[in-house]
Amino acid sequence: MRKKIIAGNWKMNLDYNEGLGVFTEIINMVKDEVTGTQEAVICSPFIHINSLVQLAKGYNKVSVGAQNAHQAESGAYTGEISAKMIKSIGAAYVILGHSERRQYFGETNELLAKKTDTVLKHDLRPIFCIGETLQEREANEHFDVIKSQLVEGVFHLEAAEFSKLVLAYEPVWAIGTGVTATSAQAQEIHEFIRKEIAAKYSQEVADATTILYGGSCNPKNAAELFAQPDIDGGLIGGASLKSRDFVDIVKAYN
Ligand code: G3H
Repeated sequence: MRKKIIAGNWKMNLDYNEGLGVFTEIINMVKDEVTGTQEAVICSPFIHINSLVQLAKGYNKVSVGAQNAHQAESGAYTGEISAKMIKSIGAAYVILGHSERRQYFGETNELLAKKTDTVLKHDLRPIFCIGETLQEREANEHFDVIKSQLVEGVFHLEAAEFSKLVLAYEPVWAIGTGVTATSAQAQEIHEFIRKEIAAKYSQEVADATTILYGGSCNPKNAAELFAQPDIDGGLIGGASLKSRDFVDIVKAYN
């Protein structure tokens, strides 16, 4: 069966000491309270990663990831961080294509295809985000938008490489708004994504792909979302900043 993952995306929140505090609480709660097979991942700002990896040593239910990586191997890109650097400090995941990166930093499907290649080359697992804006949904373009994001962003990969991806469906209108997609709306898109993967690769690859839902997921709505047949966990923003809320979401997927 496919892996169950609940990933927290801290975005640009929590200073170094705050981050270590929240993460320590998360580890302790996961250790004491999580009995299932689900994996908790925290994607922190770069400066936290090294310390979080040290704190997570010995706890196989908790992993650490980054929120971005540069597409180049190395070079004169002032202020950027490479996949090789992220790998060298022990992170396991990298979020790619989050809608905030697409919107504020102009990241296109074409650029994200390159980033995906580089991240995979360094043996990190991308959490590749896709999702439509409110305008696109209202214009009934959401299926086309999601298909383009898949085709242009990740469908150039061979099946073996594609199988290392985690996908995250995040309707942009649900991110940080308190408006969650209904479980039926989310399931409809997840099912569509899985069918597209089956058509491109195989049913076997589609069945093995973990597809997360993101967008105002919280301890109250998580269980219903995770009960949908094609939802394999969550990508959690705001609620991942509070250890109690995040671990309650992790526990909602048992
Ligand atoms: O990456 C996480 C998503 O953007 C969801 O954020 O849970 O604050 O809506 P949110």
